[in-house]
Amino acid sequence: MSICYLDGQYLPLAEARVSPLDRSFLFGDGAYEVIPVYSRRPFRLEEHIARLGNTLAALRLPDPHSAAQWADMVREVVARNAWEDQSVYLQVSRGADDKRNHAFPAVIRPTVFMMSDALLTPPAAQLDSGVAAVSAADFRWLRCDLKTVALLANCLLRQHAVEQGCAESILFRDGFLTEGAASNIFIVRDGVMLTPPKSHLMLPGITYDVVLELAARHGLPHEVREILEDEVRSADEIWMTSSTKEVLAITTLDGRPVGSGRPGPVGRQMHAWYQDFKNTVMRSG
Ligand code: PDD
Repeated sequence: MSICYLDGQYLPLAEARVSPLDRSFLFGDGAYEVIPVYSRRPFRLEEHIARLGNTLAALRLPDPHSAAQWADMVREVVARNAWEDQSVYLQVSRGADDKRNHAFPAVIRPTVFMMSDALLTPPAAQLDSGVAAVSAADFRWLRCDLKTVALLANCLLRQHAVEQGCAESILFRDGFLTEGAASNIFIVRDGVMLTPPKSHLMLPGITYDVVLELAARHGLPHEVREILEDEVRSADEIWMTSSTKEVLAITTLDGRPVGSGRPGPVGRQMHAWYQDFKNTVMRSG
């Protein structure tokens, strides 16, 4: 049984209760983070807490904890759970009012919730063959840079992929690549790694930052620029990145092979650099 944190208490997940008037339940009014933990060390914790702070500020939801308090709470949840590698989910909502009302409560008591699970990264067979993706129109709102729990559009877009036997939807807005339903997207053309610049239209992924750092460190040619839909469709390689998927090759798009239809050499190299970084830096702090 996993142990979670809810409003000051650590308790079994099955015993945690929140009000049906909680604004995250009624309005999707809250922020969240997913923090990967390797060998019980939360990875890039400061960056995750900073991103949470940015989301909370944009939602005009006062951050209930200092960065140091957040770090202690995340470490406590990790310590109370069994797995060496975990995926910590953290959520702050605007809490409950005494009735349903779109406008904010006069007094805001945020609901703070954290849970953890075993961190499941893609299995070897998936890394070997890559995964299938479909394309979809990005019909989300214009603040996709915020990590809010209002994820209905992302859920519909991921379900659209799953119903076609695919792992991810690759999203295009006005003819340009934005990201995946729950991942950032990189492509490779003529040996150059390409990814869109951070903007209001995509989530600033922590893994995205790591991949760009690894590219710079190892001298991999890369560009951060707007990417046309046609450039994705004719790319040599496509990868998705996230805290849980790490670097995962997409080998078919809308049923057509990407490049050779196998994970390409640049993605394999990036995956190896990522694993090396994980085992030497993330696991040892
Ligand atoms: N999602 N873009 C979207 C829309 C995402 O939901 C995510 C992650 C990412 C990648 O961000 P990061 O590298 O920081 O994990 C990009 C998490 C894992 C989730 O919602 O479960």
